[in-house]
Amino acid sequence: MSMNQIDVVVSGACGRMGQEVVKTVLAQPDMALAGTIDASFAGSDIGAVTGNEPIGVQVTDASKMAQTLVALKPDVMVDFTTPAAAMSNVLTALKAGVIPVVGTTGFKDEDLDEVRRVCEETDGTALIIPNFAIGAVLLMKFAAEAARYLPYVEIIELHHDKKLDAPSGTAIKTAQWIAKSRSETPVARDSEEKVAGVRGGEAYGIHIHSVRLPGLVAHQEVLFGGLGQVLTLRHDSIDRQSFMPGVVLAVHKARECHGLVYGLENLL
Ligand SMILES: NC(=O)c1ccc[n+]([C@@H]2O[C@H](COP(=O)([O-])OP(=O)(O)OC[C@H]3O[C@@H](n4cnc5c(N)ncnc54)[C@H](O)[C@@H]3O)[C@@H](O)[C@H]2O)c1
Repeated sequence: MSMNQIDVVVSGACGRMGQEVVKTVLAQPDMALAGTIDASFAGSDIGAVTGNEPIGVQVTDASKMAQTLVALKPDVMVDFTTPAAAMSNVLTALKAGVIPVVGTTGFKDEDLDEVRRVCEETDGTALIIPNFAIGAVLLMKFAAEAARYLPYVEIIELHHDKKLDAPSGTAIKTAQWIAKSRSETPVARDSEEKVAGVRGGEAYGIHIHSVRLPGLVAHQEVLFGGLGQVLTLRHDSIDRQSFMPGVVLAVHKARECHGLVYGLENLL
């Protein structure tokens, strides 16, 4: 084990994103796959789970996460699990002295506050990244810029039908950025809903519409309305590989960070 090697445990390793992360970690010359954790497939070889040759790394059951992290002492734990599990996984990693790099969505403001507090308490670091795709981060930046001139805006986010949370973490964050940057907050003239929820939900005073369909991966449109004009910004993740350069970047930078880092834009 060289000084610069980064030992990575993948939590949620058997899921759609986790499997992609496992393959990505194995392909990095300066990373080692120290272990894999999941709520299913315990005891299976992770190579076989991802449809490849066995690699001698077994899946450990999620209930043994704390002991596993203490025993393996990895530098980083990448987590792509479920909104219900992620918060407790982050705290478990921090308490074990491991940096969680989290792609799981569904963190609320008060969860982030708690992570910040535990980082201070443990002198630790946590990276929570609601969207690892660089294009999606750029979309948020461009949306914040456009909102300075075009304050009337709605967000449509579209995802595959297995996604557990709505709206997406990215949509919430986009709304937050827009709300911060627009000079004027237009009063929404809400029409009477003949069908409940048809005008979407609202975050930071901005309407968000969530579409869930098989075939989709992760997509977002931000529509700005002005006098006689509409500006549409759109990003499409058409493959889960779109998230991997961001994951690699975050794992590389994790040891240089301190406290809670929330969002890929803080690492660019
Ligand atoms: N940040 C990003 O860029 C990004 C991109 C895509 C998806 N996501 C998010 O990543 C998460 C995972 O998505 P997915 O499509 O891979 O889901 P998935 O359902 O395919 O995979 C989740 C995996 O986590 C496992 N799991 C459940 N509870 C666990 C626990 N307590 N500990 C360890 N493992 C546990 C499950 O068994 C499953 O294998 C979702 O929250 C999704 O919104 C984030």
